[in-house]
Amino acid sequence: MRKTFIAGNWKMNKTPSEAVAFAKELVKSLKDSDTKLMIAPSTAALAPVADVIKGSNIILGAQNMASVEDGAHTGETSVLMLKDLGVEAVILGHSERRAIYGESDELINAKVKLAIKHGLTAVFCIGETLEEREAGKAETVCFDQTEKGLKDVSAAEMDKVVIAYEPVWAIGTGKTASPEDAQAIHKAIRGKIEQLYSKEVAEKVIIQYGGSVKPSNVKDLMAQADIDGGLIGGASLEVESFTALANYNK
Ligand code: PGA
Repeated sequence: MRKTFIAGNWKMNKTPSEAVAFAKELVKSLKDSDTKLMIAPSTAALAPVADVIKGSNIILGAQNMASVEDGAHTGETSVLMLKDLGVEAVILGHSERRAIYGESDELINAKVKLAIKHGLTAVFCIGETLEEREAGKAETVCFDQTEKGLKDVSAAEMDKVVIAYEPVWAIGTGKTASPEDAQAIHKAIRGKIEQLYSKEVAEKVIIQYGGSVKPSNVKDLMAQADIDGGLIGGASLEVESFTALANYNK
């Protein structure tokens, strides 16, 4: 049985002081949730938020990291630094990183492997653009990103990978893939994992859906057989909505 994994991607929102105040409220309001929970503040807020959520049922996630451990990489953050702060998971290959910062599948693959090497969970994002969907290429784009992003990741290491399917056209737009459309792609991605690895790995891997998930649609999305959680941007920024998402099953 895969445990539902609800994660908040705060993106470039909330100053460290705002993040601390918000995290304090979340610790209180989420304490009875039985889903796996993660919050991913900006890099600048990781350290103070780590102190707030220590010992709670919420794990700390980062939104990105460098593809190498250390050295002359001005402006980057190392996996070693994230680990030192108590970060347990890192979002990699988010469509905003791909589109705005030009991250390639090869770079994302290097980051995924480095995160796993250091024991972090890689929340590995894939998803097609509207143009690609309209051209009937949604599946092939996701397959290609999956294959390239997970290149040289072993079956055993797949325990440290969470896949987040986020159709680019649904991110921050208010447009959600219908539960049935999302399920179809999730099922196909699981099939791809089975082809690349094994049935056992495919049945274990958590595949989150992301793209305008909100309290009003979360239940229908999570009810789908191959949707195992959500990676949530906008609706993770308010206590009330993130609590409703975390407790969607209550
Ligand atoms: P959204 O963002 O929930 O605001 O659409 C999701 C994401 O980009 O992870």
